[in-house]
Amino acid sequence: MQTRHIGDVQVSAIGLGGMPMSIEGRPDEQRSVATIHAALDAGVTLIDTADAYHLRANDVGHNESLIARAVASYGGDTSGLVIATKGGHLRPGDGSWTLNGSPGYLKQAAEASLKRLGVDAIGLYQFHRPDPKVLYADSVGAIRDLLDEGKIRHAGISNANPAQIRQANEILSGRLVSVQNQFSPAFRSSEPELELCAKLGIAFLPWSPLGGIAQAGELGSRFAAFAEVAKAHGVSPQQVTLAWMLAKAPVVIPIPGSSRPETIRDSVAAADLSLSADEFARLDAA
Ligand SMILES: NC(=O)c1ccc[n+]([C@@H]2O[C@H](COP(=O)([O-])OP(=O)(O)OC[C@H]3O[C@@H](n4cnc5c(N)ncnc54)[C@H](OP(=O)(O)O)[C@@H]3O)[C@@H](O)[C@H]2O)c1
Repeated sequence: MQTRHIGDVQVSAIGLGGMPMSIEGRPDEQRSVATIHAALDAGVTLIDTADAYHLRANDVGHNESLIARAVASYGGDTSGLVIATKGGHLRPGDGSWTLNGSPGYLKQAAEASLKRLGVDAIGLYQFHRPDPKVLYADSVGAIRDLLDEGKIRHAGISNANPAQIRQANEILSGRLVSVQNQFSPAFRSSEPELELCAKLGIAFLPWSPLGGIAQAGELGSRFAAFAEVAKAHGVSPQQVTLAWMLAKAPVVIPIPGSSRPETIRDSVAAADLSLSADEFARLDAA
């Protein structure tokens, strides 16, 4: 598969988003493991997760543990796999999402993720979302400390605006390697962050690239241009969406969520789908 860079590491141009396998509506473990194995078979070397991808208060880190088990039971080579996780979001178990960006909490959360993933150092650790109760510099300072201590190999942020991207990169002394923001045909307000990442050479990971778990299946009926280009190529509108993102800048690495082998296989094929300049312009303007 086509590859892209996160810092000095090469990863597949399409990653796997783990969230649908661990939150509301999650499938049984057998189907999730089959999905992760299908991704690895297809050449995926980036899996995105978070300690907050779980349902109940007592299953924190469900997705991280699931991925660790699936990787352990995979027969093939996983030495080049980057598991990207996050800290700073919490789910108390009542369906809500809460925040804790305090440095002490983030360091403790990273330690717990490290244990669940069963690795010496986390491949990519991302500060999940700014916490208005904590100075951004203090939260990112904790990520810098984790990097300096060797607990994480690479540092990223998520849900950040351009000023926060610049600030985080400064606090990390130029070692910010990724920004993960919402970006899809339905949600384009992260264009300035995408452009800034392209300028600075920082990987940009669009989250909910297909519009999110509930909307992903309807993408073609909501966005006619994507359905029409898909029809012309004989592929799915979802695949066209991911190919359009890849064509936007070489730093873009979409992480479509999946809970079925067939959807991640279809998404991965976007890395081989070439769009004409006219098609790209049409989708970009849609
Ligand atoms: N940083 C953050 O704050 C944040 C927030 C949200 C999400 N994320 C990350 O971003 C990832 C992606 O976002 P998301 O999962 O919310 O939404 P998404 O990727 O927009 O949509 C996920 C859904 O798309 C379906 N799908 C995937 N590929 C498809 C294809 N080729 N054709 C048709 N349907 C397809 C999947 O269906 P099946 O389930 O049937 O396979 C899945 O449930 C998450 O998994 C998570 O890792 C991060």
